Amino acid sequence: MEAILFIGLPGSGKSSFYKERFFNSHVRISLDLLKTRHRENRLLETCLDTEQRFVIDNTNPTKAERSRFIERLASVQVRYKLIGYYFESKVEDCLNRNAQRSERVPDVAILSAAKKLELPSMNEGFDELFYVRLTETGFVVEEWKNEI
Ligand SMILES: Nc1ncnc2c1ncn2[C@@H]1O[C@H](COP(=O)(O)OP(=O)(O)OP(=O)(O)O)[C@@H](O)[C@H]1O
Ligand SMILES: [Mg+2]
Repeated sequence: MEAILFIGLPGSGKSSFYKERFFNSHVRISLDLLKTRHRENRLLETCLDTEQRFVIDNTNPTKAERSRFIERLASVQVRYKLIGYYFESKVEDCLNRNAQRSERVPDVAILSAAKKLELPSMNEGFDELFYVRLTETGFVVEEWKNEI
């Protein structure tokens, strides 16, 4: 089974990437959509119970936030492969993209996520980790290099 965890500032392109790559195969678990941690947990547990592929489409900026999911995955019987996508983006670009989208977040949400962002690392428990960049021609995915 496969679980995907997104990491990235608001406006870095996570939900757009989900729509492009995973809409047809993975359930989207998003706190923005579900509004409460209770609903988020219920949906996560249902995915785990039913062996459904899913994407955690949250900003997940800190190691602590990511570890909640990673620890839960590690404790289920079904072996899940955990893939992380880190959306590399300048704060300024996120602010600009945010200003242009219909469902805007307050700028402070971008600034505070940037402040607490901790780069992910394979040793948090990822099986695979990728960089995602939003370019003029679309999303570019690259393999993770731990030294970057
Ligand atoms: N291929 C693309 N080229 C240029 N801009 C894009 C492309 N895809 C998406 N965008 C824009 O980039 C912005 C990214 O928004 P998106 O909602 O995907 O970010 P997000 O990371 O999910 O943010 P949040 O954490 O707030 O949910 C949107 O304004 C969208 O219009
Ligand atoms: Mg989103």
